[in-house]
Amino acid sequence: MPADPATSPITALPGLSTELLAQFSADVVRWQKSHGRHGLPWQNTRDPYRVWLSEIMLQQTQVATVLDYYTRFLLRFPAVADLAAAPLDEVLGLWSGLGYYSRARNLHRCARDIVSLHGGQFPQTAELLQTLPGIGPSTAAAIAAFCFGERVAIFDGNVQRVLARVTAFAGDLASSAQARELQAIATALLPQRQLGTAMPRYTQGLMDLGATVCTIRQPACLLCPVQALCRGLATGEPQAYPVKTRKLKRSAMALSLLWAQQADGSVWLERRPAPGIWGGLYCFPVFDSEDALLAALPVKFQTRLSAVTPFVHVLTHKDMRLSPMLLQVSAREAKSIQLPGQGAWVARDVWLGLGLPAPIRKLLALHALTVST
Ligand code: ADE
Repeated sequence: MPADPATSPITALPGLSTELLAQFSADVVRWQKSHGRHGLPWQNTRDPYRVWLSEIMLQQTQVATVLDYYTRFLLRFPAVADLAAAPLDEVLGLWSGLGYYSRARNLHRCARDIVSLHGGQFPQTAELLQTLPGIGPSTAAAIAAFCFGERVAIFDGNVQRVLARVTAFAGDLASSAQARELQAIATALLPQRQLGTAMPRYTQGLMDLGATVCTIRQPACLLCPVQALCRGLATGEPQAYPVKTRKLKRSAMALSLLWAQQADGSVWLERRPAPGIWGGLYCFPVFDSEDALLAALPVKFQTRLSAVTPFVHVLTHKDMRLSPMLLQVSAREAKSIQLPGQGAWVARDVWLGLGLPAPIRKLLALHALTVST
């Protein structure tokens, strides 16, 4: 039978001293009480709907950005059944600007599955939570630990950094075998007692430590509750952990956008296919090159295009160079013009509420400013 990482002997996990096992979780719990974050709107609740929503929004997104979105979402969808009953377009509209839209599509699918497959109640274990759309192992662990006190380890980037430093973990987490090894350490370090109160506190404590003390650059080791246990600090170079032996390659992509607009602010938008870039969102027709864009237009409109200054939209692993071409169309022309794709004219007060990619929304907002001033 394989060893259970929670109970297997310490020697099976290099980097884990008896002292660390005995002290770490208690120190993190104590520190969270006095120095952790307490006033975030998704704290002080054990409602899995609220915790789930916050965890999904907080993936790849800063707390400060999430705050407004979270409040607006809960006002419109106070319970999972409200979210499940809403049309996807409305969910994407409320998500607009948060990015990574597959999160919003999965959120909606997940709400529907909870209503149709689970009688409107969230499952209560990380194992079952992971069967739902958009809920990966770390998010499932966060919900189970915060709401149900399950002894299960979150393992997001912040937590990996804290644990890799504390244990001076020598492996590269890009290797799944090494990542599994650190995960076993994460499990072994979890609190052992009073899980109902300790697990939410510990889980939040690790997140807070990663976000406010054990930061990527210049960790504030003097303020750290586990500095005496930290092997990374003992090496004199805690920032060297987690060890990275492979370099992540960034890619670049250039797209031309057909921005057809009428004087009343209506624009020509088409829904992007999902999956794919901006899947499910409403967008200007997108082309691989300016030539492809021109070729898709009747000749008489080709000469009326004006190039808008191209700009770069930066995603995590990709730089997108976007080149919009503006075509002003009269109301009369709009009735007969054949524009490419499956789009439609969308009035300003309608597109304001639709899910648009962030750079398209910014472009439209900037343009509205220059027109009205
Ligand atoms: N990031 C992910 N979950 C979080 C939480 N509960 N509080 C703050 N930041 C988080």
